[in-house]
Amino acid sequence: SLHDALPIFHNCMKTYLVTGAAGFIGANYIKYILAKHDDIKVVILDALTYAGNLGTIAKDIDDERCFFVKGDICDRILADELFAKYKFDYVVNFAAESHVDRSIENPQLFLMTNILGTQNLLDAARRAWVTGKDESGYPTWRNGVRYHQVSTDEVYGSLGAEGFFTEKTPLCPHSPYSASKTSADMVVMAYHDTYKMPVTITRCSNNYGPYHFPEKLIPLVILNALDGKPLPVYGKGDQIRDWLYVEDHARALYTVVTTGVMGETYNIGGHNEKQNLEVVHTICDLLDEMVPKAGSYRDQITYVADRPGHDRRYAIDASKMSAELDWQPQETFESGIRKTVLWYLENQQWVGNVKSGAYQSWIEQNYGERA
Ligand code: NAD
Ligand code: TYD
Repeated sequence: SLHDALPIFHNCMKTYLVTGAAGFIGANYIKYILAKHDDIKVVILDALTYAGNLGTIAKDIDDERCFFVKGDICDRILADELFAKYKFDYVVNFAAESHVDRSIENPQLFLMTNILGTQNLLDAARRAWVTGKDESGYPTWRNGVRYHQVSTDEVYGSLGAEGFFTEKTPLCPHSPYSASKTSADMVVMAYHDTYKMPVTITRCSNNYGPYHFPEKLIPLVILNALDGKPLPVYGKGDQIRDWLYVEDHARALYTVVTTGVMGETYNIGGHNEKQNLEVVHTICDLLDEMVPKAGSYRDQITYVADRPGHDRRYAIDASKMSAELDWQPQETFESGIRKTVLWYLENQQWVGNVKSGAYQSWIEQNYGERA
């Protein structure tokens, strides 16, 4: 396999295992940390599911500091081999099944990857990083190591018209996706409490930006609009999401992985609450300005069957991140969505590549049933 040919790293400051970095947020994260630091090594472990795209990270894996391994986070033998070979300092786990609508069709895959994959990585890290026992019988850990779990605000469930999710909000997931992410978070905390494992968790609101797979609302609407296809709005389009530009998330993750307090959970959000219909209108208006056509892209909006168990509103209180780690988002929704629409217009080759057969059959299955 490819990783047999990889060099063994010596004398570098930090070696990262980043899982799921051929996907949307993981790819943006490795681009951010490679640009930020000269003295890091990054090993990417990604199974290249439908959501993984080597084209997204082609330039990054050309960099001598970054290596790609195709594999499943549930594979125990591979995880042990990688830990033994590369002596990781940090694990940042993005790898997951991430689409709520797909979790409604196939919950088991979500539980396997998101829960058992997390547990497999935790165990591999534990086997590699434990150095002995302390006087109370707890494991002792190699200096400077950390396991970071990339989680979601969806673990908190749904809000009414008022209020925000804080780190103390009880966990109350509704979809198979969010239930699997909640379970994974609880397993991560159990390893901290039981083995004193050095871990952190972040829970982020909805991301958007470059390299977002077009099964999710924002890229789907941009691409369908340009293709002259319907813009499917679930239910009345009055559900609310708190949108964060993906580079702000990457910077928040960098901050937590390098300076976050072990055993802590941090909420990450942009204070950009928007109704879905407002998001769709904004994209249409930007396209009307950038790629004018007869009439408006708003004319393509189509109301379709609502998602079962649809969470009504997500909104993050990220004051712990700003008070304790001095992180704030830099993009507003207005600046971020403009950049995003432009990125999709300027990256038609990437767009063409992701619209594979597997993607087309999902679109036919999901939206065929909803119409
Ligand atoms: P994505 O679906 O774009 O990418 C997931 C990546 O994981 C893909 O490259 C895929 O090939 C890989 N993968 C899937 N199963 C795997 C397995 N068994 N082994 C190895 N690799 C596997 O997801 P994303 O939107 O980039 O989300 C990344 C993480 O961030 C997820 O854990 C998700 O729960 C979390 N998150 C996402 C959002 C969001 O708005 N997208 C918000 C908050 C948190
Ligand atoms: P999505 O991007 O799937 O993210 P999540 O479900 O994780 O929040 O959906 C964002 C919102 O947009 C959600 O309320 C569902 C809605 N939505 C639509 O109205 N139409 C669509 O075609 C999609 C994919 C989502």
